[in-house]
Amino acid sequence: MQAETVRPYTKEDRQAVRAIAWQTAFMGGPASVFFDDEELLADLLTSYFTDHEPQSCFVVEDSGEVAGYITGSTYVRRLNMVFFFEILPRLALKAFFRAALLNKKNFAFLLALAKSFLNGEFAAPDLSREYPATLHINLKEGARRKGLGSKLMHAYLGYLFDKKVAGVHMATMSEKGASFFKKEGFGVLHVQERTYLKHITGGNTRVYIFGKKITL
Ligand SMILES: CC(C)(COP(=O)(O)OP(=O)(O)OC[C@H]1O[C@@H](n2cnc3c(N)ncnc32)[C@H](O)[C@@H]1OP(=O)(O)O)[C@@H](O)C(=O)NCCC(=O)NCCS
Repeated sequence: MQAETVRPYTKEDRQAVRAIAWQTAFMGGPASVFFDDEELLADLLTSYFTDHEPQSCFVVEDSGEVAGYITGSTYVRRLNMVFFFEILPRLALKAFFRAALLNKKNFAFLLALAKSFLNGEFAAPDLSREYPATLHINLKEGARRKGLGSKLMHAYLGYLFDKKVAGVHMATMSEKGASFFKKEGFGVLHVQERTYLKHITGGNTRVYIFGKKITL
């Protein structure tokens, strides 16, 4: 058997995907730098994909263990509807019952995020017509630079091609991530400066929105 295998996500992978999302949420490093509740953050980052569109997710196994994933959606408009009207209200309630805001780190992050959002830093052109799909890709630290990201990407792009999806777009704050997407044939569609991590990094965070056409 091959040591590295890319395969469709199954519900047994849910916990591994959530754990990797937590370990990689800060530009490839652990989310604990800016947030103290793994359960809430994993819900925020992964629950749409694992619970509402699992068929668009892929994992890569390295020596029998899930080492990374692509969580995807073929239609970002549906994702946004479910996220804003279903997932976010449930998360707000969960955060309340877990007293998440009483934690200083969480409070500072959520306040900065709210300010950033209200200042229009998340405003971006509507890409949902030309690039209706989206994705998140993350690999555990020890699994990087071995071609696994590229294998995952090819599996996901093949899936989108079979579904006749016109294009895919996604955002990254990571410069290393940006060079990976360029290598995979993505182009920069939009660049944003966001302030919500300033209390940690000391400066603005540059977010690149990348896109790739799939069917013409
Ligand atoms: C970005 C990521 C998905 C790439 O997957 P990968 O398996 O490491 O990448 P591959 O081995 O398939 O491809 C390597 C290419 O990606 C780019 N790249 C990946 N990691 C890089 C790094 N640390 N520094 C510079 N370039 C990097 C380079 O173009 C590299 O090509 P090269 O080896 O010829 O220089 C993976 O490294 C990762 O999960 N990183 C942490 C989280 C992250 O940044 N996610 C991005 C979306 S937010």
